[in-house]
Amino acid sequence: MTRILVLQGPNLDLLGTRQPQLYGTETLAEIHASLAEHARLLGVQIDFFQSNHEGALVDRLHVRDFDGVIVNAAAYTHTSVALRDAFLAVALPFVEVHLTDPWQREPFRHVNYLHDIALQTIAGQGSHGYHVALESLAARLGAADA
Ligand code: DQA
Repeated sequence: MTRILVLQGPNLDLLGTRQPQLYGTETLAEIHASLAEHARLLGVQIDFFQSNHEGALVDRLHVRDFDGVIVNAAAYTHTSVALRDAFLAVALPFVEVHLTDPWQREPFRHVNYLHDIALQTIAGQGSHGYHVALESLAARLGAADA
């Protein structure tokens, strides 16, 4: 069975209450529950990991117990050479998601260490973007029902 890891970066654990005007009112647990249901329908195995710590995200990638990754690296998108290098080292396909569109926000958010090595970047579609990413990655990985 195709295995997909959903990797969530810093402050995404506060979704629901964190700047709801930008990020919406859905919690991370709610987003993950609906992704788990979507994955079940697609016939793929899905696993979730959120951390506020850069090294913990790198360590999770090193486990390499997945065929592809959906990542919202949050603020580390704009700063983390370590996370970029981890994706290059693990060398498995990943789709990048952002709830907002960082390119429409402050200039420091226009710097992106993952975009050019991602299969695809989905930005500005809110939590729906994770579902678009799941469909796309499952199809790319050849999941039976995708
Ligand atoms: C974000 C955008 C980032 O710029 C920001 O640091 C986040 C969330 C998004 O999902 O829109 O934490 O990745």
